[in-house]
Amino acid sequence: MMRLIPNHTSQIKRAKEISFRFDGQTIKAHQGETILVALMGNGIKHLRDAPVDVKPRGAFCCIGLCQECVVKVDGQLVESCRKIATDGLVVQSLRQ
Ligand code: FES
Repeated sequence: MMRLIPNHTSQIKRAKEISFRFDGQTIKAHQGETILVALMGNGIKHLRDAPVDVKPRGAFCCIGLCQECVVKVDGQLVESCRKIATDGLVVQSLRQ
């Protein structure tokens, strides 16, 4: 397949790489990214289970309004779309 638009991704300057833990898995992120962006960048979309039917739930609004992306950080519930990832953070999903 031929690419019609030049690929400039190698020119993107990324911030320093950091890592944190999500359900025991090491997640690589870049400084300044939210937890949600880092998780999605690593292919993780399932953040919690619905309380009634236990179906997988994940981010919906990505602006801090819907609460669908809530995870547990240091024992507190936070919206992963609003919380900036930091090096060494321990994050847990709300999967049952
Ligand atoms: S995705 Fe809606 S609050 Fe985070």
